[in-house]
Amino acid sequence: MPGKLAAGNWKMNGVSASLAQLETLAANHPDPSVEILICPPATLVSKAADAAGPIRIGGQDCHANTSGAHTGDISADMLKDAGATHVILGHSERRTDHGETDQQVHDKVLAAWASGLVAVICIGETLEEREKGVTNQVLGKQLEGSVPDGALAANTVIAYEPVWAIGTGKIPSLDEITQTHSFIRGFLAAHHETAEAHGMRILYGGSVKPDNASEIFALNNVDGALVGGASLKAADFSAIVNALEASATGV
Ligand code: 13P
Repeated sequence: MPGKLAAGNWKMNGVSASLAQLETLAANHPDPSVEILICPPATLVSKAADAAGPIRIGGQDCHANTSGAHTGDISADMLKDAGATHVILGHSERRTDHGETDQQVHDKVLAAWASGLVAVICIGETLEEREKGVTNQVLGKQLEGSVPDGALAANTVIAYEPVWAIGTGKIPSLDEITQTHSFIRGFLAAHHETAEAHGMRILYGGSVKPDNASEIFALNNVDGALVGGASLKAADFSAIVNALEASATGV
């Protein structure tokens, strides 16, 4: 089964000069004991893949079709061709900015798999939903709609990102993260092949920083993180990678 995963989502940040951060990151982790993934903007995927060393490179979205009249979109095949191994799908910013539905995310996941990419499928509740006590219903619906049948530990990663924790400096309590990840694991196990569901990585995302990473990584069913802001600087992301390596070896 795949190991722990430290994933960075650069979002709409980064130009060629930003690849220096990736080079530093690669130099800091020549032989990582966990998987490290950086998802730069699409314009940098190819150059990033050349500079990445042991670090995996991913896209931040792909179209459900392999080619055609879809101006501005990128197919999973194109990402793969540029050197990507993963693609983030259904991030809450895409669900909000582009109105992406669970069905669209589901179809993009199928396209990613067909191209040999690992799909990092994002789910998460809003603050209003958490306060109303409907978090599990919301996540269950997203998982049911977005994760296709046939999901395997090798081709699917789930990223739990509470919308209200993204870029805000706020995180759920450690108990809440534990309960939510346990719910997600149980849901996956009930709807997918059991051994695969148990091997699937479930990442936590939302305001993960060097100073809170260790306590989050110590929790059951947290198999890594999807990091936004703190993935932009090699020093910050390296500290998070180190925390994940320490948790994986029990140091
Ligand atoms: P921040 O780490 O900046 O809160 O972003 C999280 C995120 O959205 C990663 O996909």
